[in-house]
Amino acid sequence: MSLIDNIKESAVFITSKVNNIPKKAVILGSGLHTLVENAVAEQIISYADIPHFKSSTAPGHKGEMIFGKINDEEVILLNGRLHYYEGYSMKETVYPIRVLAMLGVETLVVTNATGGINNSFDVGDLMLITDHIKLCSDNPLRGENLDFFGPRFNDMTNAYDIGLREIAKTSAKNIGINLKTGVYAYMSGPCFETPAEIKMLSILGADCVGMSSVAEVICANHCGMKVLGISCITNMAAGITGNEISAEEVNETGEKVKEKFINLIKEILNNI
Ligand code: HPA
Repeated sequence: MSLIDNIKESAVFITSKVNNIPKKAVILGSGLHTLVENAVAEQIISYADIPHFKSSTAPGHKGEMIFGKINDEEVILLNGRLHYYEGYSMKETVYPIRVLAMLGVETLVVTNATGGINNSFDVGDLMLITDHIKLCSDNPLRGENLDFFGPRFNDMTNAYDIGLREIAKTSAKNIGINLKTGVYAYMSGPCFETPAEIKMLSILGADCVGMSSVAEVICANHCGMKVLGISCITNMAAGITGNEISAEEVNETGEKVKEKFINLIKEILNNI
């Protein structure tokens, strides 16, 4: 079967289980999974049960799609994402995004844990992504174009939708959160970066660095979705403070900022 047939089969399976498919979806990043506790789930589908879906192997990434409500807003939560560092191809990491597009999702909120590069950032800050840098030469759209979703050469000028960015800024202001803004640099991981790599990224204009999201954002744009990106600065990137970086620190910060993060996402969903 072709890729597009697989995507259709995954979507048909999901629609057979869920009555009402929301138009907004949120992908939960490392350490940020507690948003799930604030959702009223109408249906939870494990990735393992969806035809052609790969499973999440990253720690804390449960691998389930939750269809439900946060406050009164209907939303799909992707509790678990697929990363390139897990060994998946970039194309495989974006498979769930294409299924969301097939299901009619129009707005995608990507969230992630990142290392802060911008010196004015503090651990625990939330950052609105204005743009990204991808140095890794692989691309999720490499190979045959899926014309069903979008053109061979898709525009990335406003990859992070301007209207959604304004909504995020207003939402943060409404609830007294000092939302930083900046450019996200993608590095493939799974090792954290070296101080020299971080210095390079800083010179190139990056404000934070992470191991996810960028392939998803490329694919979502190709499918015509509007994208919003929110990063949590879980640690300062290598060489910024001299401290060593650990996955434990990333998760601990995620835990510390969960209330702020949840409140922001809730407010944004209300205002979209
Ligand atoms: N680098 C890359 N990815 C990350 C980091 C980091 O410092 N922190 C959380 N995710």
